[in-house]
This record gives sequence, structure tokens and C-alpha cells, in this order.
Amino acid sequence: MPWNPDQYHKFQATRSAPFEDVAALINVRDKMRVVDLGCGTGELTAKLANMLPNSHVLGVDNSSQMLERAQQYKRRGLDFELGDISDENVLPHSEWDLIFSHAALHWVEDHRSLIPRLLAKVAPGGQIAVQMPSNYNHIAQRLVLDIALEEPYRTALNGYVRYSSVLSIDDYAEMLFAGRFENIIVFEKIYPQVHENSDGVVEFTKGSVLVPYLERLGDQADAFMNTYRQRLSQHMPGSPVFYSFRRIIFAATKALA
Ligand SMILES: C[S@@+](CC[C@H](N)C(=O)[O-])C[C@H]1O[C@@H](n2cnc3c(N)ncnc32)[C@H](O)[C@@H]1O
Repeated sequence: MPWNPDQYHKFQATRSAPFEDVAALINVRDKMRVVDLGCGTGELTAKLANMLPNSHVLGVDNSSQMLERAQQYKRRGLDFELGDISDENVLPHSEWDLIFSHAALHWVEDHRSLIPRLLAKVAPGGQIAVQMPSNYNHIAQRLVLDIALEEPYRTALNGYVRYSSVLSIDDYAEMLFAGRFENIIVFEKIYPQVHENSDGVVEFTKGSVLVPYLERLGDQADAFMNTYRQRLSQHMPGSPVFYSFRRIIFAATKALA
């Protein structure tokens, strides 16, 4: 997937607020073995590593463009590796003290098998801490699906549409309990965004939900974006516009025995 680090970085401040919320749930210990799944350009992985004394943090991402940027943060105790979260062998061992993921698991399908697979790789006494957007019902995202299903885009996309793989907060809580996790914290929170007008929302969406569509649209990409921009302005008129962005956060500790 061609992630564009520059487009992504335009909203770095907005995206780091939920990091603070999920990071606050981490039970910091000495010498932790940590993986950050979908680490992207690595700033937040570096921030995570700086919180964890004498630990080893491995950032994993399947985008070489994003990982290229991450290389600047590489140091003793912080490495980056190309890998796909959907690959069953992405985690080289099953003794992680912390499996962390920030704004990435929503890109991976089938959470009913993904989450238990990750939970199984947490060491007894270790933690999982995840943040992912759950904003799929907002008009800014629903419009993308609507337009993708209309011609000429449907043909240009070869019928491709991406429905959210994110489940309800109850589902994650139940999977954590079934995986023998304790101190279960699961919540959904609105992270408000205020943009000058709806074009600001388009810019945000361009660096996230729209990525797989723009990759596939070829010479229809500009027309798609114009249609999207115009429709969104009808739904989110005026200035400023308020974009209520919903995210799920969960964290829990694996039982010792
Ligand atoms: C929204 S960015 C988040 C990056 C970083 N965690 C942050 O919060 O700034 C999502 C990242 O997930 C990565 N990603 C998406 N699907 C993936 C997969 N199946 N395996 C590994 N990485 C994936 C993308 O390449 C991208 O870097």
C-alpha cells in the first residue's frame, strides 16, 4: 500500500493525542520485549521506546516508504523491520512483554482471528495495548464507500471497496477475557478535530481511509477526489467544521498462570 509519509505527517499532532491515552495504560517495567505493530514512520515507536527503560522495541510495518523514514530513530534497543501483521509468522517469538499497536490494526482483516493470535503471543504477566480508529460510520468515511460503488469509479476500482474490520468494544473485551487477560480496559473516545472547512477533513482522509482507493484509481483519482470534496462540503458546510473522530483503545495484562 503506498503510504505517503508527508501526507500522513500533516496531522501528526492530531494523531499523537490518542497515543498519550494508550501509553498511559502501559505498565512500565524494566527490560521489556516490545513490538509496535504498524509502526509507520517511527516517531511514536521512538516515543514508546523512550518510556521503557532497558527495553527492546521492534517496530514492524509493511510499508517500505514509512519504514524508510523510521530508520532515523533506530538506536540500541530500537529496531524496525518489514513485516505484515496479517502474516501468522510476523512475530518471531511468543514471549512479548508488550504488544503495542497505534492506528494500524484497523487495516488488518478478520479481527476475530487476528486478536486471539496476537493475545497468544503475549508472555504471562505481559500486556497488550492498542488504539485504532472506529470512525467508519462517520459521513466522511461513508461517502468514500458510496462514491467507490458508483460509476465510473466502480469499474476503475474493479469493484474494490473496503469495509471496516473493526468490531465493537464489547467484542474486544470478550476476546481479552477469553485469552485469560486481566485488568481489562476497553473504551471508545471522540478525538475532536476542527478544520477551517470540509477540505481540511478531505486532507485528513487522504492520508488514511482514501489510501487504498487512490492507489487503485489510476487516472480516475482526481475525478474521485473532486466528487468526494464536493459531496463532503454539502454534508459538512461552513467554517469552521467539527469532525468528531472516534477511536477504540484497549489494554489488558495476561494472567500469570
Ligand atoms: C495510520 S498509520 C500509523 C502509524 C503509526 N503507528 C502512528 O500511529 O503514527 C498505519 C500504518 O499501518 C501500516 N500497516 C497497514 N496495514 C499493515 C499490515 N497488514 N501489516 C503491517 N503494517 C501495516 C501502514 O503501512 C502504516 O504505516
